Parts: sequence; structure tokens; C-alpha cells
Amino acid sequence: MTSQPIPERERTKTRHADLAAELLPDGPLEHLIGGEWTGGDGDDTFPSINPTTGEELVDVHEGTKADIDRAVDAAWTAFEGEWGEATPGDRQALLGAMADRLEARAEMFARIEVLDNGKPITEARQDIDLAVEHLRYFAAAARNLEGKTVPHGELHVRTIREPYGVVGQVVPWNFPLLLAVWKLAPALATGNAVVLKPAEQTPASVVTYLHEVEDLLPDGVVNVVLGFGPETGAPLVSHPDVPKVAFTGSTEVGQGVMRAAADSITDLTLELGGKSPLVIAPDADPGSAAEVAVDAMFFNGGECCSAGTRLFVHESVAETFVPAFLDAVDDLTMGDPLDESTDLGPQVSRAEVEKTLHYIALARESDATVLRGGNTPEGGLLGSGCFVEPTVLTDVDPDNPVVTQEIFGPVEVVVEWDDYDAMVERANDVDYGLAAGVVTDDLSFANRIARDVEAGNVWVNTFNRLPPGQPFGGYKQSGTGREGAMETLHEYTQTKTITMDLDG
Ligand code: NAI
Ligand code: MG
Repeated sequence: MTSQPIPERERTKTRHADLAAELLPDGPLEHLIGGEWTGGDGDDTFPSINPTTGEELVDVHEGTKADIDRAVDAAWTAFEGEWGEATPGDRQALLGAMADRLEARAEMFARIEVLDNGKPITEARQDIDLAVEHLRYFAAAARNLEGKTVPHGELHVRTIREPYGVVGQVVPWNFPLLLAVWKLAPALATGNAVVLKPAEQTPASVVTYLHEVEDLLPDGVVNVVLGFGPETGAPLVSHPDVPKVAFTGSTEVGQGVMRAAADSITDLTLELGGKSPLVIAPDADPGSAAEVAVDAMFFNGGECCSAGTRLFVHESVAETFVPAFLDAVDDLTMGDPLDESTDLGPQVSRAEVEKTLHYIALARESDATVLRGGNTPEGGLLGSGCFVEPTVLTDVDPDNPVVTQEIFGPVEVVVEWDDYDAMVERANDVDYGLAAGVVTDDLSFANRIARDVEAGNVWVNTFNRLPPGQPFGGYKQSGTGREGAMETLHEYTQTKTITMDLDG
């Protein structure tokens, strides 16, 4: 890593505290239920931590099952009222206005993300820009909810797409506002009312955004209940009056959501973990391949479900590619995520740091080679915040958990390959199937990988790119359903078929 001077701990704390005082309210963040901001049923609050400083960022009301029940009722009331009558044009106008509000205060929202999540400001700005784009995409999509007619003799068969009514949405902390928008926009485009639970680690941006757009939304169309997974998320995803749930998070919790869904046959969209391979082809240019690989792995500090965490390097280029890759890793600047020059901020929480270090320890125990990093930095800001060095491992057993399980931290595993079939078999030998990538100028090689890899998304000469309109979702245990695209309209509607006997 470059020798960026370690930011003075106290100076950084003051900088973050001053910004928090400017952008966030003093009191605990509240739930939004039926158009009212409320502390809810219980008295408990909990802190959201700023992972850069380790200090409390803002206090948050802790939602209960009773709050979820009220929010679900409020959402149904909204759906059965004015909102249920909204035309596609009304919904388009709403989403367009929501996009404009976000765009107008984009820098503020990017800074809130930095404070609550710890992501570098340059990446937080990309999150907000993309969220604006998604709102605009689904504003247009609201006009495109079409059915079909089915040819037959005397029968006239047609389909329409109807909203579920109320949908429950649970989002994680790695892209707090962007992933909330990914879920809200298609739900509103299709005319549903929503109960949304943000992650307990990062509620600030979603709450601030709802304050920003509340006058645009009829009461109860979007309800937000803050709190923890078991206490607040679980009653939402298992609620008998919530016929559709969309969840993004860990595969383990996703499995629980699926089990809970069985009781009321709730429809699901699940976007879960990943362990994505990135293949460096024999013809790859080492310099540009290194750039793609660093971005694939260390974007958002590795806290990215699609991260390219397994790097398959063809042995013919390993000698030039691996040093180029390690140089690029060394060039990453870790530091205060409010600094424009920072490439790597802290992990979101101490728990995530411990998880990352645990996996690195398992690799060390199996005699893996640690090419870079492997520790938490010592001293100054980096020592007190939730930072983990960008880590590159090699010589790891194929069945070591570091290779097979999602770490969600800055840990890359490098594997050399020579035989194509063996490499593909190994690339596919995980429970996940979210994404994959290849760096090559050879089109037929790129197509061959794209066909052979078990993944919902394949990137060629790029990685982690998610423009609106590109369906995103997983194969295997990475989930079910696709987000961010026209087919997402189907995730938020159900088909009603109307068959008329024209001769009858
Ligand atoms: P998590 O899956 O527990 O949390 C994600 C969201 O689900 C949060 O809003 C949480 O409050 C909620 N939740 C938790 N338990 C729930 C339950 N029983 N019912 C309903 N909602 C529930 O993930 P966590 O603990 O924050 O992170 C642990 C690991 O999960 C990470 O290290 C990473 O490997 C993975 N993860 C994957 C994500 C992805 O984008 N695929 C996002 C976040 C975490
Ligand atoms: Mg936080």
C-alpha cells in the first residue's frame, strides 16, 4: 500500500462528528408508518456505528412485531385507497420526482453513506448516481406493464399483470440506499405499497431519503420500520398479509426467509451471497487484467455480493499478471473514506472484521501463502476503525472455507490454471452462482466461459457493472428472481388470465 500518512485519529473523529451533526438529526431515527414518523411501540433504541471512527453515528428506534403489524395495515390501507387507483402515468411521475429529489441532494446522500457504511466517497457517489438511474428506469417501466392475448378458436384469452398489494422488503448494509431503491422503484412502478426494513448497521440514508420525498408519497405507500433481523425483519417476511417478499442478504438468512414463506406460500425474490470467479485468459494483457481484477475484488472493500473473490490466472500469464496485480493492490490507498484519494475504507462493523480475520486464519492454518495483507492495520485511525488490509492469498486447498464461502471482506484467492475443463469445474464447484468474469480479447473464449460458468451474470473485460435494465440475480444458492430490469416487473406482479367465450 502507498504510505498515505495515517490520518490523525482525533482530527478524523471531529471531521466525521461535525459532518454527522450537519446532516443527521439529533434524536433517534424514527419509523415511517402510514405517513407518520414515529418511535413505534417499544422504548428501545440502538446505535448505528460509524465504522471509520468506531463511534456512535446516530441512535435508532428499534422496531417490534407490533410496528410491523401497523406498517402492514397502513400499506394495505394505502393500496386499497388512492394509491390503488394510480395510473401508470401517475406512478411514472412519482418515480421521476423521486429521482429528481435524490439527484438534487446527491452529495449529501453520498456523505451520509460514507458516515454510516464507511465506503469511500468516490464509490458512494456512484451508488447515488446509480440509484437515480434506477428510479428513472422504473419510472419509464411503469408504462410498460403489458399483458398478452393468446390465439384460440372461440375463446378470447388475455392476461393482465396485477400488483400483489403489499410487499415486504429487507435490505442489507453494503449499498444501503442503492439497494433500497432497487427494491422500492419496481414495487412502486407496478403499483404496490411497501414495508421496508433497512439494515440495522446503516439506516441513516434511507430514513433521510424518505424525509426528502415524503410529500410526494400518499400516506402508507412506503413504510419503513427500523430494527434488527430477528425482531423486526422476521415478523415482516413471515407476515400472513404480506404476499410478496424481496430480500437481499446472507444465504443463511435467505434460507430462513424461504422456510417462513412456506407457511403462506409467499412469493419471493432472493438476492443472496456469492463467491464469483474471475478468469484471466492466456491472451490477457497483464496491466488491464490487473485493473479489472482489483476492481472486481476490492470495490466497496469486498463487501459486494458479486465480488470477484476467486482469481483464476492462466499459468502462461501468471508470471507477468500476478506481479502487476500485486502492484495494483499496493497502490490502493486505505484511509478516511471522506478523503477523495481513499480507495479502501473500513468494513461496516467490528463483526465483519472478525469474520474476515477468521477466514484468513483458516487459510493460514492450511499453509496458504499470504501474498499481501492478512491483518488489521495498527495505529492511528486505521487501528481504531474497522479496517482490514487488502489481502491476497494463494496455495489454498480447494475445499478450504476461504475458497468456498462468502467472506464479504477484502480477501482474494489466486489460483493458477492450465486445463480449461478442470478450471471450469473448479470455478463452478461452490454453492453460489451469482456472477463471474473473464478478461480476454478472444471473443470465442469469452463466449465459451460465459456458457460454461454457472452464474446469473457474466462480465467480460469489466466487473461489478450494474446499469439499469441489466437483469441481476443468482444461480444456485445465490438466490432466485432478477432485479434491476424489465423482468423485475414480473417479480412484483402476478398474472391474471381472463378467458372469454365470444360465442357463448
Ligand atoms: P443478514 O443476512 O443477517 O442481513 C441482511 C438483512 O436481513 C438485514 O436487514 C438484517 O437485519 C435482515 N435479517 C437478518 N435476519 C433476519 C431474519 N431472520 N428475518 C428477516 N430479516 C433478517 O447479513 P449480516 O448478518 O448483516 O451479514 C452477514 C453476512 O451475510 C456477510 O458477511 C455477508 O457474507 C452476507 N451478506 C450478503 C449480502 C449480499 O448482498 N448478498 C448483504 C449482506 C450480508
Ligand atoms: Mg452504521
